[in-house]
Amino acid sequence: MDKYYVTTAIDYVNASPHIGHAYEKIAADILARYNRLKGKDVFFLTGVDEHGSKVEKAAREAGLAPQQFCDEMAARFQQSWQKLNLSYNRFIRTTEDVHTRVVQELFKRFQGNGDVYKGTYTGLYCEGCEDFLRERDLDGQGNCPNHRKPPRQTREDNYFFRLTKYKSRLREWLTSEDAPVMPEGRRKEVLNQLDDEELGDFSVSRSRQSLTWGIPVPGEQDQVIYVWIDALSNYLTGVGFLADQAAAERYWPADLHLIGKDITKFHAIYWPAMLMSAGVPLPRRIFGHGFITVEGQKISKSLGNVIDPNALAEQYGPDAVRFFLFAATPFDQDGDFSKKDFIAKVNAELANNLGNLLNRTLALVEKNCDGRVPAAEMNLDLREEANEVHVAVDKYMEKLEFARAIEAIFALVDQANKYLNDEKPWALFKESKSDAGKQVLYSVLDVLRRVALHLYPFTPSLASDIWYQIGYDGRLEELGANGQGFWELIPAGQAIRNRGPIFKRIEE
Ligand code: ME8
Ligand code: MG
Repeated sequence: MDKYYVTTAIDYVNASPHIGHAYEKIAADILARYNRLKGKDVFFLTGVDEHGSKVEKAAREAGLAPQQFCDEMAARFQQSWQKLNLSYNRFIRTTEDVHTRVVQELFKRFQGNGDVYKGTYTGLYCEGCEDFLRERDLDGQGNCPNHRKPPRQTREDNYFFRLTKYKSRLREWLTSEDAPVMPEGRRKEVLNQLDDEELGDFSVSRSRQSLTWGIPVPGEQDQVIYVWIDALSNYLTGVGFLADQAAAERYWPADLHLIGKDITKFHAIYWPAMLMSAGVPLPRRIFGHGFITVEGQKISKSLGNVIDPNALAEQYGPDAVRFFLFAATPFDQDGDFSKKDFIAKVNAELANNLGNLLNRTLALVEKNCDGRVPAAEMNLDLREEANEVHVAVDKYMEKLEFARAIEAIFALVDQANKYLNDEKPWALFKESKSDAGKQVLYSVLDVLRRVALHLYPFTPSLASDIWYQIGYDGRLEELGANGQGFWELIPAGQAIRNRGPIFKRIEE
């Protein structure tokens, strides 16, 4: 059985999760569910990034010991992800003991290869980025352009990692035939960064005086490992590196690291260099997605526009949130969450187009076919169109073009609605053309079956509800291995269950 290992960035626990964090985790869940449906052995890893100065500071401000603060925040993240129906296999926390072991082992391997040396770092540090900045990275006011705050001037004795030793191998990897960084614009950006002479060896530890909340450099009490070295290593810990060799060998290398566009450098330059040094194979793909704004504005605590995904899922249900975020915006571009657009979109597509198609069809089956899927052949045109949509959806999903996949699925829904309107099965039954009427209903029922399967990664509970209402007893996700079940048409005689709207219109 093929495996599929997908990861997300692990979120800093300095603040509660917002809709931008949710966006990325849902995307990973969509891919996990999609690949499981294809019969793959999926491992979906997510979690939280608990060390570093910004978490340490947030704990202090909350008046809690760092570990206690992290425990509370980690629970909050997990609660939100459960509300959004995320099917992760493991939620990793970087304060776990198994993780400390991995980070220290990697550090020792760097040392063993002569890739780490002592030096003095003098320069700027932005706590928001947990990154070392250069003068020319700053905006006109001398602020970090991402966090709009001046970075701290620091000078300390650190360990440095010999990135320069790996630059040419990195360039080779980034320009290899099946380029591992997507989308293309991000790959070019990374190549430019790599070509920049100023991107040199980087500091991989902090002195205890400036940071206490972190993993110690092995055998050295006054140096703490840089939070990004610690964080990136989670992808190995998560599948059992050092702890469960069989699992690690099964799942590593990762098939996909899903991350936001702001942290591409860490994943496409630092991380592969670390792996090269440690003698570990490189990930197959890194995808840097776009950012979500809220009502046209950057999400920020000071603007008070941090939408709590937990509350959103509670109010509207997970499917609506999941659907809107990926239907509205191409995944590689920035997108906006606006309440008005959200409500308009889910009402139009889920309640009207899809919901009505299902309910109309089921009511007709109840009335004219004794509540059972009639025995008939699927209409050939509709079947062909549905097959084309299937191919298109697969193509888009492989490229993470979620909005296009959804668009194709709803084009099929539109076709089925049109077919129903044109053929008027209610009239056919009245005119005693019941064979023709049955063919129409059968054809639409099979489209609904396909739509449920296509939509399942995006809206798992709504899709499962359709599946149930069109008469299936087994769980949708238990469809046969390798997705073969997709080609088995809906069986005649199966009793449907008309349970009313799958999606209640949002009135506001
Ligand atoms: O960067 N829209 O953590 P983080 C979409 N701990 N995605 C967004 C977003 C937005 N408005 N805001 C943030 C870190 N993200 C590190 C990662 S991984 C080894 C360590 C994304 O909490 C962001 O791009 O700042 C990142 O992928 C993730 O949320 C966590 O961001
Ligand atoms: Mg960030």
